[in-house]
Amino acid sequence: MPHIHLLPHPELCPDGLDLEVKRGASLCASLLKGGVAIEHACEMVCACSTCHVYVREGGDSLAEPDDAENDQLDLAWGLEAQSRLACCVKLQNTDITVEIPRHTRNHAREN
Ligand code: FES
Repeated sequence: MPHIHLLPHPELCPDGLDLEVKRGASLCASLLKGGVAIEHACEMVCACSTCHVYVREGGDSLAEPDDAENDQLDLAWGLEAQSRLACCVKLQNTDITVEIPRHTRNHAREN
């Protein structure tokens, strides 16, 4: 089964995390299940971009983003070539390394 290697995030996961998940599992749902409070303001229906992540390794194994994901990614803070929306990513058989950006678009949660 594939693994998600989550890089350390100062608030959400200071020590990083390694999760084993089933093929086809949602990245966002898997992180939440693993205790990582990743933003998901639209409840994972690809309508908010708050679940923005960088897939630092293993991204080639994933299905390409569809038009809906690309439209929301355009609105994400700190967009990079490795940007994905965690609720749109389904794990394949390859391990992936993920980084959660330091900021999101969800101003309601910011202090
Ligand atoms: S949770 Fe809203 S786009 Fe992923």
